[in-house]
Amino acid sequence: MKVLGISFGRRNQRCDILVKNALFEAKKAGAEVEFVNTVRMNITHCHACDYCSRQRDNGSVEIGCAFKDDYQELAEKVYDADGIIIGAPVYAVGIVGQFKNFMDRLMPAHDRAALLEENKKREAEGKELLDPRYFKDRYVGYISVGGAETHHWVSMGLPMLHLFSFSMCMKAVGHIDAYDQGRTGSPLLDRDLLKQCADLGRAVTESIGKPYDEVTTWVGPEGSCPVCHNELISLHGTTGVECPICGIKGKLSVEGEKVHVHFSEEEQKRARNTLPGIYEHYNEIQNMIKVCVPKLVENKEKLDEEMKLYTAPFEEVIKSM
Ligand SMILES: Cc1cc2nc3c(=O)[nH]c(=O)nc-3n(C[C@H](O)[C@H](O)[C@H](O)COP(=O)(O)O)c2cc1C
Repeated sequence: MKVLGISFGRRNQRCDILVKNALFEAKKAGAEVEFVNTVRMNITHCHACDYCSRQRDNGSVEIGCAFKDDYQELAEKVYDADGIIIGAPVYAVGIVGQFKNFMDRLMPAHDRAALLEENKKREAEGKELLDPRYFKDRYVGYISVGGAETHHWVSMGLPMLHLFSFSMCMKAVGHIDAYDQGRTGSPLLDRDLLKQCADLGRAVTESIGKPYDEVTTWVGPEGSCPVCHNELISLHGTTGVECPICGIKGKLSVEGEKVHVHFSEEEQKRARNTLPGIYEHYNEIQNMIKVCVPKLVENKEKLDEEMKLYTAPFEEVIKSM
């Protein structure tokens, strides 16, 4: 039972302290723990070269990335983990870019629906299956860390961290919005915050090995969405609303000053981090390909001709106008 703590903050600063505090408790609860700080890691952004998908479709057991930087080292740690605690700083109201770089390279390449479908094909053809570590169910806990006193300067922190759960179908068992760190000075001066992190470490550890539907633990405030517990709601001009993180639909009602959003059980079961949710997206992509490819084939000559305007050196095109 391995719990990995990842800090995207500075060395020995707030994210490190809070993640380590969660790991101390995970260790007490019986986990083998590992900590990694990424601040000096070189993790470039996804260049959409499709190398990872081609590896999947060409029968490779491992799905790596074309860029040989520190991504693979961190990805290996995620594959080995049964539970993950992520602590990351808020930069410009959202989570630091390095987290997004890592997630963009790891997650779509390990989309569970695509990998399950690939394994079905391989089984039928008697070929070697994909690395079984990609299919592990994992529990996660998120800690968003911000310096600002006001919550509206960290409003995209926790929502962005939850994006990590989707493609690999992880289940979050809690999150902590550790803002106001400027005035707090050091997290060590906030015993309640340290306790929340310890609770998160314990919740992740104690969930490992249990089926997702048996785990109802939640550490942190109950948000508007019963799946990700964030407070963001997309309004579409009617009482029909959506959680922009989980992609599930709900019904909004107002009673005096109070606003309530109801998400049915059925909708909760199709949240983006669930298998049905991830299959919805997989099927969407398959259907997209069916519509798009014939159009491109049919219009090939016309498109090749019209594209000359876009592929020619831009300055030359502008001068000729
Ligand atoms: C470029 C940059 C942008 C930041 N933007 C925000 C922000 O929008 N909101 C906020 O609350 N804190 C912001 N901060 C403060 C960090 O979130 C805060 O210092 C946090 O403690 C960093 O985590 P660490 O101590 O683990 O490195 C920013 C810091 C930097 C360097």
